[in-house]
Order: sequence, then structure tokens, then C-alpha cells
Amino acid sequence: MAPDPRVQQIRDRALADIAAARSTADLEQIRIRVLGRSGELTARLRSLGAIPAAERPQVGQAANRAKAELEEQIQARLQALRVEERSRQREAGRVDLTLPGRVTPAGAVHPITRVQDEIIAIFEGLGFSVAEGPEVESDYYNFAALNFPDDHPARDMQDTFHLSPDTLLRTHTSPVQIRTMKAQPPPVRVICPGKVYRRDADITHSPMFHQVEGLAIDRNISMGDLRGTLDLFAREMFGSRSRIRFRPSFFPFTEPSAEVDVLCFLCGGGGCRVCKQDGWLEILGSGMVHPDVLRNVGYDPEEVMGWAFGMGVERVAMLKYGIDDIRLFFENDLRFLGQFAPLTLPPHPSLSPAGRGTRMRRR
Ligand code: DAH
Repeated sequence: MAPDPRVQQIRDRALADIAAARSTADLEQIRIRVLGRSGELTARLRSLGAIPAAERPQVGQAANRAKAELEEQIQARLQALRVEERSRQREAGRVDLTLPGRVTPAGAVHPITRVQDEIIAIFEGLGFSVAEGPEVESDYYNFAALNFPDDHPARDMQDTFHLSPDTLLRTHTSPVQIRTMKAQPPPVRVICPGKVYRRDADITHSPMFHQVEGLAIDRNISMGDLRGTLDLFAREMFGSRSRIRFRPSFFPFTEPSAEVDVLCFLCGGGGCRVCKQDGWLEILGSGMVHPDVLRNVGYDPEEVMGWAFGMGVERVAMLKYGIDDIRLFFENDLRFLGQFAPLTLPPHPSLSPAGRGTRMRRR
């Protein structure tokens, strides 16, 4: 039985190609080329009719044998290549646990929020609770109840944004004093943080800024208590070497009134650029609540007394961080804001009492 040279040639070439195939895709190309509908071997089988009848069975058998052999070889090679390909894929997709992690950019608490939270934490530690009031206020709460007479020049000091003759954007957080006292009988210990508004804008003034009001009312409260409270506040906020001083001042809703300065954090009192050679920096207004204010809320000034203060949060933040332009707080420049690291988490309750003070201590 002389083999059909054409079939022999197709078979030999196909076997070599199958052995050399590098991928299942290569192998499929070979299968189509040889065994496909218009493949080389398929064509040979189809052309059997054209060869002499005597040779036909021989050539047909040879072609069919070659076909079966190639199909088998292709299957075997396919299996082997699949195994190889799967292990290559596994290798490529393997998680490399030694790779360094990708750093997710973390946001930072806005310095104003951060300082406001610190102020609140300090006073909460002293037993004060937080009270809030509306930013759109009536003339009554913002001025009249706080003992500003209608034509009093102190109203001009506040550069008010009026919404109507009787409604305005609150110019300070002092109206929350009135709202709190009207809503509850004495004793009172509250701090009132919030936004306030004034028609004023320059390097140290912003038309919107933040204040924290403090109010303590009881039977026997003195200016000495105010002094002790603010002294502790200054040391918590600005560091243990911080000192405060009182200067006589005027507010319609307090009598006597005082402005409070803190020893300059930069020069320690010797005089420098930050404190303009004064050694002291003003941080808040305060005083003993005026008897007329107590009467306005229905308290009896013969029975109870107390003190109040109001501080600017931006001012405290500027002093604490040595920032000389208030506008930086509101320009949303991430290069500035990113410098304020996120607040440390409150200590875990399982920490010793010594560890609990962490949040209040100066960083
Ligand atoms: N409300 C004042 C202001 O905005 C600050 C202030 C002064 C608040 C004396 C007080 C106070 O409670 O007793 O300038």
C-alpha cells in the first residue's frame, strides 16, 4: 500500500506545527487550516472522486487515518496548552502580599472646626453644655433684650446685615444667652458656638465668622469664677505657661465689663511682631451679666447673678497657629488646610484616667 504522498505531506507538516504551537489559539489556526471545512485534508478527501477507482480506497483510508491521528494529536496538545495557560494566568493574577499598600489621601478637620471642637471640649469638661440658636435673628434677641437701647451707638459698632427693619443676621452669639435663659430656670452653664455676620472684610475681619458664647448663672457667682474659668481655658488652649489679664471695657449687656488678653504665645510677654510689642493678645469680651438682661428674661437679679463671655474662634485659631490672614480659612486652598492633621480620636474608654485628658491637652 503506497501511501498517498499528498496526505503524507499534509500530515507531517501538521504534526510539526501542532508540536510547535504555543497557544490554544495557534492550535485552532492549525485545525482550521488542515481539518476545517476548506482545510487541506478535507479538500483531499473531497477530491477522492477525481482519482482512479482502484486507488480510491487506499487513498481514502490513508486520508481518514491521517485525519483521526491529527484530531487526536490536536486534542492532546490542546489539553497540555490549556493547563499551561491556566497556570500562566494564575501566576499573573497572584496577589503579591509584599507590595507596599497604596496611601489613600486623608482629609483633615478644618482648623476652625478643630479649634471650635477644642473650645467645646474644654468647657464640657467643666460641666457646661452646648446651646444653639438661629443665625437669622430678630432685633429683639440680637440687641433689645441685651440692653442695647434703640438709638445706642453700640449698635453701630456691630455693622449689621439687616434683612428687614426687624430681622437681621446675628452679629454675635449673645442672643443665644437670652434664648437659653428664657427657656430654662437658673442655674445655667452653657456655651453657644455658631456663625455670626458683620459687614466687615479685611485681613483680620470676615463677613462671616464664628464665636463661642459662654454663660454661667447661679446664686453666688463672682467675677473671680470668671477669671478662674478663663485662666484654665487659656492654659488648656494655649499651653500651661499661658496667662490672662483683664482690661476694663464696655458692653451694654454686662456690668462691669472686661476684655481679656492672653500672654503672647510667641514672645511670652517680652513684645514681638505678633503682639505688636504689647506682650498681650486680646481674645474675648466678658463681664457680669447686667441686671436689666436678667430682668428681660424673667430672672430676679436679687436672687441670681452670673457672667458671660464671647470669643472669636478665628481669632483663637489665628493666635494658636500663628496665622496672620483670616481669609486663608475661607479660600479652601488644600495646601493650607492640609497642614492641619486630623483630630486625634477620643481615647478609648479602657484607657486610664490619665489618658483621658489627651483630647484637651495642647498638641
Ligand atoms: N457679643 C460680644 C461681641 O460680639 C462679645 C461679648 C462680650 C460677649 C461680653 C459676652 C460678653 O457674652 O459678656 O463683641
